[in-house]
Amino acid sequence: MGKKMDLLFIFLLGAIFSSILADPVEDKQALLDFLEHVHHSRSFNWSKETSVCNSWTGVTCDNDHSRVIALRLPGMGLRGPIPPKTLSRLSAIQILCLRSNGISGSFPSDFSELKNLTMLYLQFNKFSGPLPDFSVWNNLTIVNLSNNGFNGSVPPSASKLTHLTAFNLSNNSLSGDIPDLNIPSLQQLDLANNNLTGIVPKSLERFPSWAFFGNNLSSENALPPALPGQPANAQPSKKAKKLSEPALLAIVIGGCVMLFVLIALLMICCYSKRQKEQEFPAKSQIKEVSLKKKASENHDKNNRLVFFEGCNLAFDLEDLLRASAEVLGKGTFGVTYKAALEDATTVAVKRLKEVTSAKREFEQQMEVIGRISHENVSALRAYYYSKDEKLVVHDYYDQGSVSALLHGKRGEGRTSLDWETRLKIAVGAARGIAHIHSQNNGKLVHGNIKASNIFLNSEGYGCVSDIGLAAVMSPMPPPVMRAAGYRAPEVADTRKATQASDVYSFGVLLLEILTGKSPIHATGGEEIVHLVRWVHSVVREEWTAEVFDVELLRYPNIEEEMVEMLQIGMSCVVRMPEQRPKMSDLVRMVEEIRRANAGSQPSSETKADTTASTPIPQAAEIGPSSSVPQ
Ligand SMILES: *[C@@H]1O[C@H](CO)[C@@H](O)[C@H](O)[C@H]1NC(C)=O
Ligand SMILES: *[C@@H]1O[C@H](CO)[C@@H](O)[C@H](O)[C@H]1NC(C)=O
Ligand SMILES: *[C@@H]1O[C@H](CO)[C@@H](O)[C@H](O)[C@H]1NC(C)=O
Ligand SMILES: *[C@@H]1O[C@H](CO)[C@@H](O)[C@H](O)[C@H]1NC(C)=O
Ligand SMILES: *[C@@H]1O[C@H](CO)[C@@H](O)[C@H](O)[C@H]1NC(C)=O
Ligand SMILES: *[C@@H]1O[C@H](CO)[C@@H](O)[C@H](O)[C@H]1NC(C)=O
Ligand SMILES: *[C@@H]1O[C@H](CO)[C@@H](O)[C@H](O)[C@H]1NC(C)=O
Ligand SMILES: *[C@@H]1O[C@H](CO)[C@@H](O)[C@H](O)[C@H]1NC(C)=O
Ligand SMILES: *[C@@H]1O[C@H](CO)[C@@H](O)[C@H](O)[C@H]1NC(C)=O
Repeated sequence: MGKKMDLLFIFLLGAIFSSILADPVEDKQALLDFLEHVHHSRSFNWSKETSVCNSWTGVTCDNDHSRVIALRLPGMGLRGPIPPKTLSRLSAIQILCLRSNGISGSFPSDFSELKNLTMLYLQFNKFSGPLPDFSVWNNLTIVNLSNNGFNGSVPPSASKLTHLTAFNLSNNSLSGDIPDLNIPSLQQLDLANNNLTGIVPKSLERFPSWAFFGNNLSSENALPPALPGQPANAQPSKKAKKLSEPALLAIVIGGCVMLFVLIALLMICCYSKRQKEQEFPAKSQIKEVSLKKKASENHDKNNRLVFFEGCNLAFDLEDLLRASAEVLGKGTFGVTYKAALEDATTVAVKRLKEVTSAKREFEQQMEVIGRISHENVSALRAYYYSKDEKLVVHDYYDQGSVSALLHGKRGEGRTSLDWETRLKIAVGAARGIAHIHSQNNGKLVHGNIKASNIFLNSEGYGCVSDIGLAAVMSPMPPPVMRAAGYRAPEVADTRKATQASDVYSFGVLLLEILTGKSPIHATGGEEIVHLVRWVHSVVREEWTAEVFDVELLRYPNIEEEMVEMLQIGMSCVVRMPEQRPKMSDLVRMVEEIRRANAGSQPSSETKADTTASTPIPQAAEIGPSSSVPQ
């Protein structure tokens, strides 16, 4: 007993010591100096004796407790100016929130030393005087200075904030013209209730009109946004951002030469690829190509990249064409690229080939698809239609498709896909497809369900992409080899996808998840195997256990669940379309695979998996939802 107590004591002492030792001494002193010199009406529990990182209210340190990285003191009754040379010594600080206090005086000039500042919340205070020169903080993402008394103009230096996503200057006394803030990453802007004059610059026309409400702006802004590529109106542009014509010409010519070389390379590449019937572009084959095909010379001015509401991506076609792109894969409907935009957003862009429908029809279909919002459906972000170019823009998924997860890197270095993950993929895909089938008065068809069109959403559930393109491609192009295995037999004749043929494809997907085999694959001896037929033959011979992916054999107690999924899969791939189950029923069936067997399932692995996506703590607390009154 006594020995135990001793140990505990030593342990506690150690813990206390290490936490004190680990305290950032200089940051601590800076905070104490701040508190000593600032007027405050509420008491702070910042004591010299306690650990700044562990017990001071509002203070957050980095992981090794070497620096203070966030200070959040909303509604703490601070008054008067911020004492100089106090907070500015917290040079590693990233988040500074002093909102809803009574702080007055001008913007602290020494904040320019906080080079790592990413979020700044000073709204609802009594700051006055000019805004600071923003160019000193190149990491700023969120700035809320609203509801203060800042006057003077909006500094053009704000346009240097290339990571800025939210900029709120509403309810101040700012005057003068609005500078041209050409920041692609900017998603939220609020300049309402100031005294601004002039017009809304072209780069900001994408923001809703209430962002400019309550100013003295000339009504010219009522004009519709200018078309891309046109020079900014009469306003002399401050930065010579546009390229001169000779430079542009050089780029176009350079682009053409590059394109020619690339095409040659691609042709060589495709030729050698054909020999091997490869599933995925191997690393060496992934080419850095520019989407800027033909230097966008025929990018028709009447065709704009069309975004869907709620879409917070901020880029235009120019950005997209300028982005460096990597070929992700070639599918039935075209080549998909991963495009990294300059503002660090990554999107998947599919360049459609052989679109047969007219623009109107295409747009209608895209509108239907664009309206879909479901956690198991990959949102269509934008599309583009012109005579020579049809693009659809989707979210990009880091982990790659289910096809890549199932078949990629078999052999060395592979992390096998466990049963929990596979089950979640199946449940998610079923929900996503069922939702798609409920759209457009219950008539929408996916038309191209296959493992390479299913991704994992943030919770690890299947998420369906590439919706409804079959309809604008009708008659459907003959599938590429590997996709053929998903196609229902009747589609081979009619060339028309239906909801029942979607169900067939979903069944093939389930079989693929279970067997780990591609729908059409070659065995050792050059023999082509059709997955559905193979599963049928094995099951008929009562070797059921043989169909399951060897990777799954190591997980205990999942046999019943696998057999259940097998039965569901096989009910989907029956020959007669009318005998296949409906997607809505399939959702229930797939969900019940787990429920029915819940008692017998020890799922220690699952728990570890699901906690993997904890939110970033820093971002969590900042919003207006805290209990502090504004
Ligand atoms: C200070 O207050 C915070 C929360 O209000 C609390 O977590 C912390 O333990 C307190 N510190 C001390 C030294 O009392
Ligand atoms: C700013 O942040 C980076 C990365 O987190 C870090 O390496 C650097 O030391 C920080 N700068 C200061 C002045 O603390
Ligand atoms: C701030 O930006 C610099 C480069 O501009 C970078 O090295 C640093 O890591 C960034 N700091 C943080 C905290 O992200
Ligand atoms: C801003 O306000 C201060 C008083 O708070 C005043 O002295 C100054 O002239 C104002 N500046 C502008 C540009 O209006
Ligand atoms: C703007 O500020 C005034 C006082 O400064 C306040 O009464 C008003 O509610 C604020 N408006 C908004 C929209 O926050
Ligand atoms: C700007 O901040 C004010 C209050 O701080 C808030 O009411 C307003 O919604 C914010 N604007 C945006 C676009 O978030
Ligand atoms: C707005 O500017 C006008 C002059 O341009 C001035 O008379 C007025 O007082 C200003 N209003 C505010 C709220 O600053
Ligand atoms: C609006 O601006 C015009 C000139 O740009 C000025 O004459 C007028 O006084 C301003 N109105 C207000 C309410 O500030
Ligand atoms: C401050 O402004 C940001 C950006 O506009 C906004 O997201 C946030 O809600 C605002 N904060 C408050 C408390 O209104």
